[in-house]
Amino acid sequence: MLIRYKKSLEKIAMGLLSFMPEEKDVKKLQQTIKEYEDNENWLLYLWKEEDILGAIGVRVDDQEKKLMIQHITVNPSHRNSGIGRKMVQEIRELYSEKYFICANDLTNHFLDKCRDNHNQL
Ligand SMILES: CC(C)(COP(=O)(O)OP(=O)(O)OC[C@H]1O[C@@H](n2cnc3c(N)ncnc32)[C@H](O)[C@@H]1OP(=O)(O)O)[C@@H](O)C(=O)NCCC(=O)NCCS
Repeated sequence: MLIRYKKSLEKIAMGLLSFMPEEKDVKKLQQTIKEYEDNENWLLYLWKEEDILGAIGVRVDDQEKKLMIQHITVNPSHRNSGIGRKMVQEIRELYSEKYFICANDLTNHFLDKCRDNHNQL
């Protein structure tokens, strides 16, 4: 299930985000985490089973009623078992009534795989 990021999960969240190619640089990674902590429009969720295995980060735009999935990452030892898709599905369940859900350049490739028959996320 998805749980909201909190400061006590900072290390695990940074470890997961660092698997995104654009977040390899530690300074960039620290800025990203800070933005998730400080910016009320940036929301980071973690995928928790017994352990925390994935992260999905979104940015909401209330004016445009748009939610962009801007980070998605799964622990390499647990890939290809559906966690990525399940995280996207839970975000849909939480937000699709209120927001149009979209991807950005960093997440588009995987999110294209998660689209439904109407090509919607
Ligand atoms: C992308 C990622 C989150 C997928 O997580 P996952 O839990 O392995 O995904 P699922 O098990 O739900 O789905 C696996 C499917 O996604 C595909 N996939 C994995 N990474 C992909 C990518 N970057 N682009 C497109 N498809 C991808 C797999 O080939 C597999 O396809 P199949 O169902 O046809 O066999 C994971 O590979 C990851 O953390 N990658 C590194 C971080 C990253 O690059 N994130 C941005 C991706 S655009």
